[in-house]
Amino acid sequence: MKRIQLLGASGSIGTQVLEIVEEFPEQFSLQAVTAKSSVKTVLEILSRHDVEMVSMAEEHEETIKRAYPDIKFYALEKGGLETIAASEDEAVVLNALVGSVGLAPTLRAIERNKDVLLANKETLVVGGSLIREALKASESSLIPIDSEHAALRECLRGSDVEDVEKLVITASGGSFRDLDKKALENVTKEDALKHPNWVMGAKITIDSATMMNKVFEIIEAHYLFDMPYENIEAVLHKESVVHGLVQFKDGNVLAHMGPSDMRIPILAALQGAKRMSFPTLFDLTSVGTLHFEAIDGERYSLFDLGLAVAKQGGLHVVTLNAANEVAVRLFLEDKISFLEIETLIKRALDHFQNDNHLTLDKIVEHDQRVREYIRNIVSR
Ligand SMILES: NC(=O)c1ccc[n+]([C@@H]2O[C@H](COP(=O)([O-])OP(=O)(O)OC[C@H]3O[C@@H](n4cnc5c(N)ncnc54)[C@H](OP(=O)(O)O)[C@@H]3O)[C@@H](O)[C@H]2O)c1
Repeated sequence: MKRIQLLGASGSIGTQVLEIVEEFPEQFSLQAVTAKSSVKTVLEILSRHDVEMVSMAEEHEETIKRAYPDIKFYALEKGGLETIAASEDEAVVLNALVGSVGLAPTLRAIERNKDVLLANKETLVVGGSLIREALKASESSLIPIDSEHAALRECLRGSDVEDVEKLVITASGGSFRDLDKKALENVTKEDALKHPNWVMGAKITIDSATMMNKVFEIIEAHYLFDMPYENIEAVLHKESVVHGLVQFKDGNVLAHMGPSDMRIPILAALQGAKRMSFPTLFDLTSVGTLHFEAIDGERYSLFDLGLAVAKQGGLHVVTLNAANEVAVRLFLEDKISFLEIETLIKRALDHFQNDNHLTLDKIVEHDQRVREYIRNIVSR
């Protein structure tokens, strides 16, 4: 029985993890769950699973403890995520949090030699170098759940990363892929949230529309597979059927394809070496034609900007991520337009200096400073 500490249980990924856990009750169980404010969802989860630990915003402690007095409750504000991730329990940590809040618990879990199944891409975006260092001193495995990276992992099975010439990930192009830049001036939150191929949480759906998501995934691939940026490429592929490709030095190219269903990479991360039975519908004849094209850096200007920042590394990437997190939130709250996301990110990058010596404290402190900076600009 694999016991799971599920961080971000109420979200899009969290919900699909629960589906897998409930599909395989003999193999998987929940040891801990966390959410921020979705207390109804957490109570529902607790009614179906024998959970020992919960972390949420402090204001929900009373509600949870009243319904489940024996559950150990840890407030988010008092480091609840880190406490759960660092607990002695024999469990894997499945990180389905959104945002840079995912970094500290991931580090704690690795320090405890726990395996981490990682959907939370912002962990590697802001703290990839710290995670790499921590893994060197640990017995943990870090297993990606993002579909593109799970695809690359499948293609790399049994191969040596040294034999790889290039990693390629695909991008759907997001909700506005058929609009030119001018037309983006008037798009709404409702339009932006209609992703053509995937049903996902709000933030990643907006990140897909700006192409920031692909920048984050290139950073993720860089740290997960220890691959220089020059050897990682992203291409537009509107069907989202091929998720990742590995081109080997000898000319062979392996591509991974499958349905747009996150339960497949979730199960792949959970199941270990032996494949479990999970029938899904995939019919090449109904897929028909596949298209691939280069990402236009003028149309998706955040892609080029983000990639340049990624290559610089250091605190600049933390600035990029924090400014993006706040700007996307402000767009979702109807406080800024879609194109202002990019304007705000550029302002933050111009305002803050880079620093290549990162520590967790420095990242957390800088992240807060950038968030405040962006909120101040918009509230003026
Ligand atoms: N969704 C996908 O299909 C998909 C695919 C690939 C990768 N990913 C990545 O997976 C991660 C999760 O994505 P998602 O779409 O599942 O996000 P989501 O639906 O927004 O869920 C986020 C989860 O994190 C919790 N949370 C939010 N802010 C928090 C905070 N400050 N402290 C503690 N918990 C917090 C939420 O709790 P509340 O519900 O209480 O707010 C929720 O449980 C992201 O990094 C995303 O890029 C997602």
